[in-house]
Amino acid sequence: MILLNPGPVNVSPRVTAAMARGDLCHREPEFQQLLDAVRHKLVRALAPDGDWVAVPLTGSGTLALEAGVTSVVSSGRRMLVVVNGVYGERILEMASTHGIATVVVRSDWGQPPDLAAVENVLRADPDVEVVALVHHETTTGLLNPVEAVGRITRVHGRVLFVDAISGLAGDTLRLEAWGVGVCVGVANKCIQGVPGVGFVLAKRSEMQRMAEIPPRSVYMHLPRHFAAHERHTVPFTAAVQVLYALDEALDELVEEGVDARVARYGRAAAQLRAGFERLGLKLMLPPELRSNSITTLTLPAGLTYQELHDRVRKDGFVIYEGQGQLGKAVFRVANMGALSEDDFARFLEALERAVAGAPA
Ligand SMILES: Cc1ncc(COP(=O)(O)O)c(C=O)c1O
Repeated sequence: MILLNPGPVNVSPRVTAAMARGDLCHREPEFQQLLDAVRHKLVRALAPDGDWVAVPLTGSGTLALEAGVTSVVSSGRRMLVVVNGVYGERILEMASTHGIATVVVRSDWGQPPDLAAVENVLRADPDVEVVALVHHETTTGLLNPVEAVGRITRVHGRVLFVDAISGLAGDTLRLEAWGVGVCVGVANKCIQGVPGVGFVLAKRSEMQRMAEIPPRSVYMHLPRHFAAHERHTVPFTAAVQVLYALDEALDELVEEGVDARVARYGRAAAQLRAGFERLGLKLMLPPELRSNSITTLTLPAGLTYQELHDRVRKDGFVIYEGQGQLGKAVFRVANMGALSEDDFARFLEALERAVAGAPA
């Protein structure tokens, strides 16, 4: 099955094999080595400049994201959340759930953020400590301007918090140079590992600042995990086999090179988009807003998502439905994972058959 949903992704045989390295107790020295290796490789691959630390966490991306959101804002301060899709809304929901005061700068889904509005909030409201932004809005495939928001955030001396769960290693993200303070990722998207582990990358100074904030959660308190990791252990049982897979996936990422991976995803997206346009399908976003790894398309007339899904699925391809308010109107095709040009070419053939079979 070729997975064209935005994670979990098809992984390489090497990553699959890594999961069978063997049973292991998370209190044994071999686990310490695994944990140290994963932390080191995450920083080396994804935050090579500046002084950054990585905190892998057992759970899906949402767990790592909620750990970040609940750990990053000081008592009595506020988070400005930039929202233009489901995942910006999710950050807002997390902050509200945990009683963190928020300010929102919202734009329509598929529209870039209003940078002037972000700047105005920061100028007017000294209580805003953290600006939260989604790197790649998976809802639409829109790439948000992290660098520009980072510039504004830095000028005003605030902290930039980025959900890069679907963007890390798929699109360029220069954490240190772009002024990011804390960033969240997951194993099972463009990193090409398996589901079950997310991670937070933070500047060491940010991790030290977070350690001063009273915990809002037991499991999700990032400094608690970091402090344990510094002692080469974990506070709670870790997903050992998923970490084996992540360890191997990070080796592959370093061997390929992050920039080369980003370029490969860019080529795959270009191949798919040329094919979509040949088939007369309508892409939701203009080229300048598109990420390297998701394309959102209007459903062809006369076909429901389920019909289209089932037709290409018979040929071995899994596509993805629209989310929220876009639900019935669009479908999404991701190009994350260990896939080849040939896989995408065969998908375009299957899609052509599926669309041609649609009633006029
Ligand atoms: C940008 C973004 N944030 C958060 C999540 C949630 O991740 P998970 O489904 O692994 O909990 C996703 C999942 O697609 C995502 O794309």
